[in-house]
Parts: sequence; structure tokens; C-alpha cells
Amino acid sequence: MTSPTTADSSTPGAAPGKALYGGTGSRRITVRDIAAAKGRGEKWPMLTAYDAMTASVFDEAGIPVLLVGDSMGNCHLGYESTVPVTMDEITLLSAAVVRGTKRALIVGDLPFGAYQEGAVQALRNATRLVKEAGVGAVKLEGGERSAHQIELLVQAGIPVMAHIGLTPQSVNAFGGYPVQGRGEEAAQQLLRDAKAVQDAGAFAVVLELVPAELAAEVTRILHIPTVGIGAGAECDAQVLVWTDMAGMTSGRVPRFVKRYADLREVLGGAAREFAEDVVGGAYPAEEHSFH
Ligand code: KIV
Repeated sequence: MTSPTTADSSTPGAAPGKALYGGTGSRRITVRDIAAAKGRGEKWPMLTAYDAMTASVFDEAGIPVLLVGDSMGNCHLGYESTVPVTMDEITLLSAAVVRGTKRALIVGDLPFGAYQEGAVQALRNATRLVKEAGVGAVKLEGGERSAHQIELLVQAGIPVMAHIGLTPQSVNAFGGYPVQGRGEEAAQQLLRDAKAVQDAGAFAVVLELVPAELAAEVTRILHIPTVGIGAGAECDAQVLVWTDMAGMTSGRVPRFVKRYADLREVLGGAAREFAEDVVGGAYPAEEHSFH
């Protein structure tokens, strides 16, 4: 393949033969590395991150792409949905995630209201995320409806990750978080959306809450990678909200989430033990004191 977006491992600037996850390269991952991974048929993981310290843990674990998602609304800022998240909030937390990492490609989400007015508004806000926070790419929701925005950002030199299927910023229109792309008409619309964002120049596309068979078809058709969340096993990459996958989220999590730890229990236990030590006089002990 000769297209610059499908650079193989011998292309200057591409990670030289290095896997996105498990590779030994230490420089920051770029969108060219992501394209090369699709060429190699390599699957890769993506997690959300909202602060420097957590991001540094994921960076050290080798996660190649971190998304400063507007899921920070629910998972970090205490809102009921992603809708209230602002550019100021995304910019502040994206900058922290960039500072906390050395290798991961950092993708900053454009929040609701930051690009719906049109391409010029999208460019203004995406430019802010790149300049003020230092992200390597931005993400925005919508397929055909967001193609103009994607085109202008890509022309301006800002890599764009698209997001189709269930787009949580439209929760009020969806009336919840239903699976998308079910039925012939909806499936055809999803395929049109996927092609539209690829044609507009997106370097990857998130497929959220889409039947596995449909996500597999999109993954076969597109030359850019698909990043699944509740979209089955055939996507090129998988993303989870970190607080869900690590067991920090309280209450019910979506069915597609796999919990890899129970941090809420671990952290709560540490807090209770500290409190009991203070109340009982066991902390601070002699070794924690100065004389
Ligand atoms: O904001 C977010 O975390 C996202 C992911 C769920 C893809 O958009």
C-alpha cells in the first residue's frame, strides 16, 4: 500500500516494526502508527483518562491511545451525562493527561456544543485543544452530519477520530442509550456514516453500541481502524471507560464492560483503615513523626 495513511513499518516516522501495544518504542505514538497497525492487522487497546496520575499508570502499562473523553462528565466531574461538559473542562484535563504521559497518543474529545454550529466552530475549538492542551488528535461525534467538520480539521492538520453508532451527546434525542444499527435501514445508515467519516479524512472511528456483525462488516470495509465499545470482537481496537473497567464506577455498568479490578473496594478499604488508625491512635506511629 502506498497511501501515507497506510504507512507500513518501513515508512520513515512510523514505529519501526513496533507493535502499538507491547512494542519497545518510547517516542509518542502518532496517527501514522495507528494506520500502520491496521495494515499489520494488529489489535490495540484504548482507555479513557482524566488526570495526570492515572494517565501515567496507563502510559506505563503500554496503553497506546488515551482518550480524554467527555465521559469525564459522568465519571470524573459528577454530572449526570456528557452533555454539560465544557471546552474549559476538557482543555484543563487534556493538558493534565498530556503532562502525565510520554508515549500514548492523547485524543481530546470535543464536547457537546463545541462543533455543532459548523466547521469553523469545530476548527476553533479543536485548535484550542491542540495548542493549549497539546493533544495529538481530537474526537467528535456524528457520521454524515459531522463530515464537514472533520474535513476542515483534517485540512488544517488536526487528526480526527470519529464516533458513530450510539453518540452519548445525543442522549436527549435518543431518550437513553439504546443499541444502534439494528434493522436494515439503521444498518445502512451506519455504513453510510462510517464511509462518510473515512472519506472526510478521519484516522479512526469509534463504533459504540452496535451489533457485532455490523461492526465486523464496517471493520472489513474501512481502511481506517474501528474502535469498538459494545461493538463485538471484530473491531481493530477496543476502548473502555477506565472507571468502568477498573471497578471505580458505583452501581450498574453496561453489559459490554468487563471489570479487571475492584478499585472502589480497594480504595474504600484503604480509607476505612486510615480512619480507624487515626481514631484508634495507631497513626501516626513513631516512624511517621519528626523530632
Ligand atoms: O467520552 C468517552 O469516554 C467516549 C468513549 C466511550 C468512546 O466517547
